[in-house]
Amino acid sequence: MISIIGSGRVGSSIAFLCAASGLDDILLVNRTKDKAIGEALDISNAIPKNSRISVHGTDDYSKMTDSKIIVITASTSIYLKSRTEMIGAQTQMIKKIASYVKHYCHDTIVLMVSNPLDVLTYFFQKETGFPKTKVMGIASSLDSSRFRYLLSEKLGITQSEISDAIVLGEHGDSMVPIFSHTRIHRKKALELLNYNQQKSISIGVRDYWKSLRNFKSRSQFGIAKNTFDVINAILQNNELQIPASVLLEGEYGEYDVCMGVPVIIDKHGVSKIQEIELNEYENKSLKISADIIRNYINSV
Ligand code: 2OP
Repeated sequence: MISIIGSGRVGSSIAFLCAASGLDDILLVNRTKDKAIGEALDISNAIPKNSRISVHGTDDYSKMTDSKIIVITASTSIYLKSRTEMIGAQTQMIKKIASYVKHYCHDTIVLMVSNPLDVLTYFFQKETGFPKTKVMGIASSLDSSRFRYLLSEKLGITQSEISDAIVLGEHGDSMVPIFSHTRIHRKKALELLNYNQQKSISIGVRDYWKSLRNFKSRSQFGIAKNTFDVINAILQNNELQIPASVLLEGEYGEYDVCMGVPVIIDKHGVSKIQEIELNEYENKSLKISADIIRNYINSV
């Protein structure tokens, strides 16, 4: 069973993708029970005819027992200027959710989607004491999708012509697009883009969510698909290589902080953290990003 805590736009879109592919039974958990039930009723009509899965809605955490995967998309309210705007309230909420998850689920993989992503991933892991391989924040893969999209727009090419365009670090203003690894038809992106072009793409990736906020209030489908891909990889045991936020214990020279780094995901969760070579500027930026997340963690 996949349990999704929070059945707003993002939670229900993830549930919809999982149901439409007949992946597994789905439980939507929401503080407003009717909303969870309503979304479940609607999404149930998207289950393929030959599938045996079910979709239910509840406000009762005890129903999550035996979940293989728990996805957390809950939010205390809407933030407007920064993902860290409600850091205090969000952290309190995550600690409460962590206590329920710890109580009812003993062997589960947790995907954090709520913001501030890296801070909440950190607190969830600390509160539950779950293995670090079983708790991951999903967002750097979304930032990477945005990086790839903006590169394709800038260069007038399709996304399929771009490889290894990844974004590491904070899911926030200090995120680090890794130009040094990005290839366009085997050519280095660094050879095709001048400094100003790189800068404008980096700002575009960083501020992408603000465009969504201005045009349609909140992001929804991009994060839903990126999260679905991880759920699918875990349940089908298909190795997936993406950047995700995990607790670092020396990798990239960082300790006791969660941030986006390249990982391999399979049925066990995070089976490997990959340490890729970065250039001096990227290394420095990643260090700054880790320090920023650490400061947020210490501020709560
Ligand atoms: C996003 O990047 C807001 O974190 C959300 O779309």
